[in-house]
Amino acid sequence: MSAPVLAVRHLTKYFPCGTLGKSQQVHALEDASFELRPGQIIALVGESGSGKSTTARLIARLLPPTKGEIILHDQDVLKTEPRAVSLSYRSQVQMIFQDPFGSLNGVKTIGYHLERPLLLHRRIKDRRELQEKVHDLLAIVGLTPPAEMARKYPYQLSGGQRQRVALARALAVDPKVILADEPISMLDVSIRMGVLNLLAQLKEERGLAYLYITHDIASARYLADQTIVMYAGYMVEGAASDELMQEPAHPYTQLLLSAVPNPHAHERRTIEARGEVPSLVDPPPGCPFAARCPQVKSICHEVMPGITHLNDHHWTRCHLYEGEGNWQRST
Ligand SMILES: Nc1ncnc2c1ncn2[C@@H]1O[C@H](COP(=O)(O)OP(=O)(O)OP(=O)(O)O)[C@@H](O)[C@H]1O
Ligand SMILES: [Mg+2]
Repeated sequence: MSAPVLAVRHLTKYFPCGTLGKSQQVHALEDASFELRPGQIIALVGESGSGKSTTARLIARLLPPTKGEIILHDQDVLKTEPRAVSLSYRSQVQMIFQDPFGSLNGVKTIGYHLERPLLLHRRIKDRRELQEKVHDLLAIVGLTPPAEMARKYPYQLSGGQRQRVALARALAVDPKVILADEPISMLDVSIRMGVLNLLAQLKEERGLAYLYITHDIASARYLADQTIVMYAGYMVEGAASDELMQEPAHPYTQLLLSAVPNPHAHERRTIEARGEVPSLVDPPPGCPFAARCPQVKSICHEVMPGITHLNDHHWTRCHLYEGEGNWQRST
C-alpha cells in the first residue's frame, strides 16, 4: 500500500458564537483523523450540519483549526510558516464546490479562468504555450472543441459543463488531492453520472486522491473506496464502502442506510429513531447520538467512545463494540 499523501489527526474546529454576552462555541468538528492515499477516494457522508464542509475547508486551509494536524507528504503543514507553505500547498490540495456558477466569474471567459492558475503556479514560456495548456485542460475534462469552449462565458454553459470547468481549473495546478464538496448535488440528475465518471477516470489516470463529500450514499458507494460517516461533528464509522453499506456497525449508520433502499440487502433495514439532532453549541459529554439511539446504554450519556477497530479496514466509535471479541480500541 502506498504512503498517504494526506493525513489529518485529531482535527477539531470550534467556532466562537456569543449570545447575550456569553461566550459559547459551536463544536463543528471533533477529533477527526483519517489518511488519504494516492488513487484513493474517501467519501464523507452524514446529515446537514454534521461537519463535512468544515472538514474540507480546514484541509483546504480556508479556515484555521482549533486543534489537530494536517500532514501533506509527511510534513505537518500547520507547523510550517504559513506564507512559505501556502502556494505550494494550494497547488497540491485543491477544492471544488457545490455551486460551479458561484465559483466562476460571470464576466470572464472560460479561457481566462484556466489561464490564471497556470500563470500563477506553472512556468509558462509564452502566450502560445499558455493557450495549448488551456486547450489540453478543456480536452481532459471533455469540453470540446477546446478553442471554442475557451471563448465562452460561464452563462453559456450548462451546470455540468461549468462543473467541468471548475475541475479543469483545479487540475491546472497539477494537484495531488482534490476536496470535492457535493460536486454533483446541484447538477441535473441526468448529467451527474458523467461528472462522477470523469472524477473516477482522472483518479485512475493521474493517481489523484479525493475527499468526496456527499449526501448521496449511492454515489459514495459508486465512487469511493472508503466511506466515513459523520454525525454532529464526529466521524462515527469508517470502512470500505461496500462493507459499510452491507454491514453498518454504528446505530447512526444503520439509521442513515435504512432510508436508502439497498439492492444487495435481503431486507430493507429499518430502525426507529428517537429524539432530535443535538445542538452543537457547548454540547454535553457523551455520544451525540445517544438521544436518538435505539441501543443506548447509560455510559453513552456520559462518555464519548473512542475508536474500536472491527477489522483492518472497518472502525467505529460506539460503546456497543468496546471491549468485545478481538476488537481493539485506539485513541
Ligand atoms: N463560520 C461558521 N461560524 C459558526 N458556525 C459555523 C460556521 N461554519 C459552519 N458552522 C457550523 O458548523 C456546523 C457544521 O457545518 P458544516 O457546514 O461543516 O456541515 P455540513 O456537514 O457540510 O452540512 P451540509 O450537509 O448542510 O453542507 C454547523 O452547525 C454549522 O452551522
Ligand atoms: Mg456542507
